Amino acid sequence: MNSRLIAVSLRSLKVQNVSVVGSGLMGAGIAQVAAQTGHNVVLNDLNDAALGKAQKGIEKSLGRVAKKMGDEGAKFIEDTMSRITFTTSVEETAANADLVVEAIVENLAVKQKLFADLEAGASAKCILATNTSSLPVSAIGANLKDTTRFGGLHFFNPVPMMKLLEVIKANDTSDEVFQAMLDWGKAMNKTTVKCIDTPGFIVNRLLVPYLMEAIRLVERGHATKEDVDIAMKLGAGHPMGPLQLADYVGLDTCKFILDGWHQEYPDEPLFNPVETLNKLNEEGKIGMKSGEGFYSYK
Ligand code: CAA
Ligand code: NAD
Repeated sequence: MNSRLIAVSLRSLKVQNVSVVGSGLMGAGIAQVAAQTGHNVVLNDLNDAALGKAQKGIEKSLGRVAKKMGDEGAKFIEDTMSRITFTTSVEETAANADLVVEAIVENLAVKQKLFADLEAGASAKCILATNTSSLPVSAIGANLKDTTRFGGLHFFNPVPMMKLLEVIKANDTSDEVFQAMLDWGKAMNKTTVKCIDTPGFIVNRLLVPYLMEAIRLVERGHATKEDVDIAMKLGAGHPMGPLQLADYVGLDTCKFILDGWHQEYPDEPLFNPVETLNKLNEEGKIGMKSGEGFYSYK
């Protein structure tokens, strides 16, 4: 292909219409930032209750952004919300999308089924991407007819505040699709890093073992959880200490990631089960969202 044709094909993958599937913590944040940065957004979930909750959450988060804008704030919220359509229809979600970002439950079979449905309704040029934290990206897209249009876009919680986007090249992701995902990250005002499809990519591969080591350190009685958190905030400049951050991410999410990796890599000691994490999960104390984890939020 000559350079002019390559330029045309790259331009043709420019992303303006973004669909987000899953309107929970991450999906609502991705939809919000996409709308804030001028994209037309379709946000999909299984039922109206989930979409209603997402709408309220987005309005609240936009309120936090808008309060720094003075008189422009109200119009900013109105304009941003007007760019988001809420739907439970997969057909509507796929129909006009240039890019679909999936942020549903962390379950391989459920994600694979969703992508088959999305591919059936999407245009041939539509890019399909997953926000998975811990599953192999290539496995999620393995059953697609066109695996070259598929990759990973891994955002961080809270999406409106965290400036990073990991862009993951899966086994078959084409160069054009990878470049379009990187370009879209910039259009979302995120800084992008390039990743290959390895467990945890960059951030979670380092962050999850660190969080688990912090819990193990407290289990050994080497320091209190409060002192570990103070130490990492003031000694390493982290915005949250590791036990606070584990509560923030969700102890269920931490356990799910660790268990999956332990099963896949039983000889890696960094992925070994952590007793306190299992116990808190059994007690339903899964962090901030449940009102209690390592700390109480009641
Ligand atoms: N929407 C909009 N604005 C928000 C917001 C949201 N959801 N959350 C926080 N903010 C804004 C607040 O309005 C506030 O703005 P001002 O300072 O202008 O008033 C500002 O952010 C700071 O918020 P707070 O004062 O409430 O608290 P903070 O200073 O501790 O910041 C934080 C909150 C941004 C979450 C910060 O503590 C932080 O960066 N924590 C670490 C988070 C982190 O590491 N996330 C990654 C988790 S791992 C992951 O996501 C990957 C995975 O796969 C599991
Ligand atoms: P969440 O539970 O807050 O939201 C998931 C949403 O998906 C729910 O509203 C649920 O109703 C919906 N859903 C489930 N199946 C669906 C389907 N078939 N079609 C449409 N909607 C469906 O979860 P979350 O924390 O936002 O995580 C979503 C994804 O993002 C997961 O893959 C997770 O690993 C990843 N992720 C999470 C974090 C985090 O810190 N929580 C960070 C980065 C990535």
